[in-house]
Amino acid sequence: MDAVKVGLLGLGTVGGGAVTVLKRNAEEITRRAGRGIQVTHAAARDLDKPRNCDTTGITLTTDPNEVVNDPDVQIVVELIGGDTLACDMVKKAIANGKHVVTANKALIAKYGNEIFAAAQERGVMVAFEAAVAGGIPIIKAIREGLAGNQIQWLAGIINGTGNFILTEMRDKGRDFADVLTEAQELGYAEADPTFDVEGIDAAHKLTILASIAFGIPLQFEATYTEGISNITREDVAYAEELGYRIKHLGLARQSDKGIELRVHPTLIPERRLIANVDGVMNAVLVMGDAVGPTLYYGAGAGAEPTASAVVADIIDVVRVLTSDPENRVPHLAFQPQSLSNVPVLDMAEVETAYYLRMLAEDKPGVLADVTRILGDRGISIEAIIQKEPQPGSDKANIIMLTHRILEQNMNQAIVDIETLSAISGKVTRIRVETLNAD
Ligand code: NDP
Ligand code: HSE
Repeated sequence: MDAVKVGLLGLGTVGGGAVTVLKRNAEEITRRAGRGIQVTHAAARDLDKPRNCDTTGITLTTDPNEVVNDPDVQIVVELIGGDTLACDMVKKAIANGKHVVTANKALIAKYGNEIFAAAQERGVMVAFEAAVAGGIPIIKAIREGLAGNQIQWLAGIINGTGNFILTEMRDKGRDFADVLTEAQELGYAEADPTFDVEGIDAAHKLTILASIAFGIPLQFEATYTEGISNITREDVAYAEELGYRIKHLGLARQSDKGIELRVHPTLIPERRLIANVDGVMNAVLVMGDAVGPTLYYGAGAGAEPTASAVVADIIDVVRVLTSDPENRVPHLAFQPQSLSNVPVLDMAEVETAYYLRMLAEDKPGVLADVTRILGDRGISIEAIIQKEPQPGSDKANIIMLTHRILEQNMNQAIVDIETLSAISGKVTRIRVETLNAD
């Protein structure tokens, strides 16, 4: 049988990695897929740019349309990124009856509902394993391996760049900006790195995970998103003193009221495995009613780890090329007509515990005022540390851990604390999750 012909859109970090892995492991891949897989056509912006892969035998073009309109290409692999050109090209590929593989989480989180509907109608597949947690096969694990479970919650470190930054800040005391530059050089960061540091990339990924876990349509706009750019070395150190690590976590939980969908820095007890996931590594903890907790760990970004997921998707598509479209694994794990309309909760309705840090005048009565405000809002305190003022200063850092409380109560309490004349500046608030899997 002839090799299946693949067209690549993008020959950057991931595109180059995919070409390398397909070539290096061609024999094993053919044995697994039942047919050879050959990249015949690829698009990039600048054809003179040095590549991290061998492009021999691949027709190169600067026009992605040539790839998606090539009648010989059966599978289009979109690795350009962004949600404009990539979206147009994916829609064109589907309209042309081609299967699609993509690593583009922004595209799937924002336009996945319409893309999957179009693919369903055209009888083609859209595979997106590499879109979440790089090389970890988390989509397959939840969509297929855990298909017998009701998923109760999942929590993940799902941005490699962010985790790399937090780890280097904690372990080596490095500056935020300096580590971000290194992450960019290593090919981990998004084209616009604010997507990494402001949590947008993690929110794209969480949106996708929540849909396949709970059978809801993709709802990126409903995901609460907070980044790591305000995390200071001070907070990292105080969290450690209290027995916690700060991680940038994506958390999705199903409750009686609805679904929590939130990305934010989070204090996690340091004894949890996930609190010890460092550098560019990602991990996703999934709680199923039958299986209990399961933890998935691996490289969250980088050329070959991501290519591992892209190539696995290409093999998956090749394996089912001739199967009846109705009998394929549904894109979002649940049959499209069976997606549920359980609401995504507003952040104000979410209950969690908190780490608070505030700079207070070192005089009697200030702590009493703060605890009174918290008490009035029903917020009870689990731990308090008061730091000595720095030499030459009359202001001391007060650090508190609270018990769980509704976010709206905490919002009101913080407003009241910030109006106290003895408190300087803003109160730092970081949410705390025990991720108790017992
Ligand atoms: P890169 O920026 O390294 O690569 C993008 C590629 O697209 C380049 O080859 C570029 O060409 C090409 N391209 C951009 N615009 C055009 C255009 N108008 N016409 C033709 N080609 C174009 O990105 P990555 O490989 O890092 O990321 C690709 C996708 O994979 C993104 O969606 C990203 O979010 C996702 N992803 C990335 C991971 C990573 O670790 N980097 C991990 C998981 C997912 P040229 O090289 O000539 O500039
Ligand atoms: N920029 C992303 C990250 C790439 O750092 O996690 C992988 O999706």
